Amino acid sequence: MPAGVLDLIGGTPLVALDRIHEGPGRILAKAEFLQPGGSVKDRAARAILEAARADERLAPDMPVVEMTSGNMGAGLAVVCAALGHPLIVTMSAGNSPARAKMMEALGARVVLVPQVDGAPGQVTGADVAAAAEAARRLARDTGGFYVDQFNATEGITAHERTGAEILEQAGGPVAGWVAAVGTGSTFLGVARALKRADPTTLCAPVEPRGSEPLAGHAIVKPRHVLQGTGYGLVPPHWQPGLMDLGLAVTDEEVAEMHRALAVREGLYVGYTAAANVCAAITLLRSGRLAEDVIVATVLCDTGLKY
Ligand SMILES: Cc1ncc(COP(=O)(O)O)c(C=O)c1O
Repeated sequence: MPAGVLDLIGGTPLVALDRIHEGPGRILAKAEFLQPGGSVKDRAARAILEAARADERLAPDMPVVEMTSGNMGAGLAVVCAALGHPLIVTMSAGNSPARAKMMEALGARVVLVPQVDGAPGQVTGADVAAAAEAARRLARDTGGFYVDQFNATEGITAHERTGAEILEQAGGPVAGWVAAVGTGSTFLGVARALKRADPTTLCAPVEPRGSEPLAGHAIVKPRHVLQGTGYGLVPPHWQPGLMDLGLAVTDEEVAEMHRALAVREGLYVGYTAAANVCAAITLLRSGRLAEDVIVATVLCDTGLKY
């Protein structure tokens, strides 16, 4: 049966990164950058809007409003196009202009919010808070539906499906799971599904070195290259019980891996994807896992967004 665009969300391939990591152990990564909005956030965008339409918080033709680092906005733009809603997004001016271009091309109105303490390409928690405040104001002024991705739990539930896909595609439970954390939806939803299948699966959020609140450290370096994650805050729905250990990455190792994934695997993906792969290798070499095991992760977005 022919598919509509909403059917292109989810069901991503699981790709083995055997050139980047020759063993012992294997890294298997969900190719989330292949989704129509170009990132992992398409799943949360569809889930939150479908739930809001189902219980009538989102009426037909009503505007949708959200704060985004660009990826949620692109996912929402895809879903809003398909469902017929106008979309207004606010984004920190520090996020990459390629993201604004894509969202505008998909019909969204993009409002850029000046940075508070970050720099271009390095967006901090304070920058995001300013963009969120602007979005809340716009939602009030337009009578629109405020998506509020940090507080909407449908994103987490949607990623339980991502976890189920990993289990199906890997052929059973995996030894480890690593993912960078923005709202935490990806990390938490997948961790729930993987731990349900095997409670011994080691689950580790990935944080930029120097901005590691999940690992319990004070923020000493709020600026980093992991746009969309590492905001120096513990997300509202964080479940500490799903975190076995924290893993940190430096901007330098992420930049090196970003290039290596492109030239050695043919995977032109973004910086959080590279961070996840760095962390997966660290976990495989940590001595905490048996030698010949699988660590799963996500390739969050395409490199074309930077
Ligand atoms: C590039 C990138 N990677 C990872 C994430 C993290 O996703 P989540 O909000 O599910 O934690 C985001 C979120 O916007 C993102 O933009």
